Amino acid sequence: MKKNRVCELLGIEYPILQGGMFRLADAGLVAAVSKAGALGTLSPHAGMPDKGNPADNLRIQIQKIRKLTDRPFAVNVLLDLPESGLTADALLQEKVHIVVTAAGSPDIYTDLFHSAGMLVLHVTGSVSQARGAESCGVDAVIAEGCEAAGRIAHDEIPLLSLLPQVADVVKIPVIAAGGIADGRGMAAAFALGAEGIQLGTRFVAVEECIAHPAYKKAIVESGDSATVVTRRGTIPTRSLKSRFIEELAAMEESGIEPDRIREFIGRNRTRAAQIEGDIENGDAYAGLSAGMIREILPAGIVVRKIMKEYQDTVRCNGFLPLLG
Ligand SMILES: Cc1cc2nc3c(=O)[nH]c(=O)nc-3n(C[C@H](O)[C@H](O)[C@H](O)COP(=O)(O)O)c2cc1C
Repeated sequence: MKKNRVCELLGIEYPILQGGMFRLADAGLVAAVSKAGALGTLSPHAGMPDKGNPADNLRIQIQKIRKLTDRPFAVNVLLDLPESGLTADALLQEKVHIVVTAAGSPDIYTDLFHSAGMLVLHVTGSVSQARGAESCGVDAVIAEGCEAAGRIAHDEIPLLSLLPQVADVVKIPVIAAGGIADGRGMAAAFALGAEGIQLGTRFVAVEECIAHPAYKKAIVESGDSATVVTRRGTIPTRSLKSRFIEELAAMEESGIEPDRIREFIGRNRTRAAQIEGDIENGDAYAGLSAGMIREILPAGIVVRKIMKEYQDTVRCNGFLPLLG
């Protein structure tokens, strides 16, 4: 199969990325995705006990991945977390090859990572962020539409509009994220200028993900209107509707002061839903793609299915297959 720029850059067979997922993207998931010829992305907090040390956890998870596969994998760095410096140090020491930065300015670490021979991909949610990331020298941008799970950009631009505008202004490869769960979405993203796709929600509902079975089941049983964006005043976040999320939305609508909302949210709502399975009282991140996910599959099957659906879609629409 012919390789495109994203495959060449990252040393992978298929231009599919499993996106960073805060508590969930641990060594087992990452290795399963990378073994399938796509790119797994490790999250420093994944598989870590509450109050653990993310830099130590990162080292442990990286060593586990390296025992499971010698294929390329990436590590996600959330730039606005206080521990991002320690995480960056651990990545340098472990000689990680690919970093995906998000939630902050790529100015912070791109030069440092490059000087250690690492590739840097950065998550962006607008044309100006993508332009800024390119001017900081990142190797590729991930254009993430507001359909995506979890934290989304303030501008809330849907992928269909964001992607061609980003592809028009940057020369580096663009990877599309948000609302993609199958090969049709991949074909659409490629038609709009993407050279790769990144998926989050689809890789929650796979056998190798450590997400609680109730969370996976909630995704599989969800529909087109199962998610909602809350926290627009602070960090806009897309989650599955639940008792907690609906109460939060009602509080926000009522104009109650931010301190009381913060108090109501408290700590560990994502752990409650995603790890402990208390969907109703917790915060289960999910993208609009949830409505397309019908079964829990092994990660490798997800990768192969997407590639087959992609090929079928481009053939049946009379496009020339982009991957040979
Ligand atoms: C449970 C969950 C946690 C996530 N946490 C992160 C994160 O820590 N860092 C990050 O860059 N993106 C995070 N994301 C976003 C994904 O990497 C990805 O870009 C997004 O899910 C794509 O949209 P989709 O869910 O429609 O596939 C998360 C997504 C999910 C589902």
